[in-house]
Amino acid sequence: MLQIRENVSLKNFNTFGIDVCARYFVEITHEDELTELFLDPKWLQMPRLVLGGGSNVLFTKDFEGLVIRMNIRGIEHRINHEEVYVEAGAGENWNELVNYCVGHNFAGMENLSLIPGSVGASPVQNIGAYGVELKDVFDSCRAFEIAAHQIKTFVKEACGFDYRESVFKSELKNQFIITSVKFKLSLQPKVNTTYGAIKNELQNRGIEKPTISDVSKVVSQIRVSKLPDPSTIGNAGSFFKNPIVDAAQFNWLKEAFPDIVSFSAGENQIKLAAGWLIEQCGWKGKVVGQTGTYKNQALVLVNHGNASGAEIFALSSQIIDSVYNKFGVVLQREVNVF
Ligand code: EPU
Repeated sequence: MLQIRENVSLKNFNTFGIDVCARYFVEITHEDELTELFLDPKWLQMPRLVLGGGSNVLFTKDFEGLVIRMNIRGIEHRINHEEVYVEAGAGENWNELVNYCVGHNFAGMENLSLIPGSVGASPVQNIGAYGVELKDVFDSCRAFEIAAHQIKTFVKEACGFDYRESVFKSELKNQFIITSVKFKLSLQPKVNTTYGAIKNELQNRGIEKPTISDVSKVVSQIRVSKLPDPSTIGNAGSFFKNPIVDAAQFNWLKEAFPDIVSFSAGENQIKLAAGWLIEQCGWKGKVVGQTGTYKNQALVLVNHGNASGAEIFALSSQIIDSVYNKFGVVLQREVNVF
């Protein structure tokens, strides 16, 4: 029997550590419980929020609706010649899944080590780090279609993956709840060390032929050195996306700001390092009341203790304004604001 709780604090369910309340709260541990839940039409009419690890949300007020906390567990794998399919429940912790794969020598996930959050949330924003995105290892996912009361399988092509984008946060937003994700990994490790920081760190350690375990360790170490640990400093990783501009705008920017940090993002498209833009506006490490940006990574907004979500949101608006005034570039929030 499903337990629906009322007026539940979300403080321990978001990595910013914002103390707001959910009007209703339910934990899902099995796909069938979603069918059971939505038999009651009350939940169809109400605002809903599906929560995984809470590592990509900013609550600015109490949530006057139903929070659905996904806690479906389980990891299984099936080997097929040189490939291996790993399927994990939406409620599994992302990094524990990465450790499972690295531990079994299943290659492909190692660059995504230590990303906070849950497996079920990973396709929604096509998580990525150090030269790899979720779409590179994704095979398919199962998702509960709320209106139809049934489970549907999405293959990669149906997910519309792009930089921190998918159909689950655009045209199909709020219509599906991901219940499990299947990954296609390799038994023939081919490590990806193209990202400068990985290369440098491997060199520092004198590792010439890195294993996937080496890459995982190095990525974890880089993350720990750059990004604050949410258990001590509340944060949600990169608060903004890296903005993408066209060549004409980039040329203009490059002339005015020769040191601008950029990466190619396809034909006529250049991705700018938002952290650099924010730092140039003087925000890096700045403390504003109980909030601010992290001292080692200006793209990460932090809660120094008792910040409210509204305070963090206000800071993010100030940052957007100053980056726009200096560079004419509009930053977009990566974090979901409620
Ligand atoms: N930089 C600065 N100042 C800063 C931060 C960055 O000048 O305060 C410049 C540096 O030149 C640095 C470059 O920006 O070399 C890129 O910085 P970094 O390698 O830290 O990566 P990022 O572009 O800031 C992205 C992802 C991260 C991911 C890293 C590593 C986004 C929005 N963020 O950050 O993902 O871990 O690359 O691949 O794409 C997340 O999405 O929450 C996240 C942490």
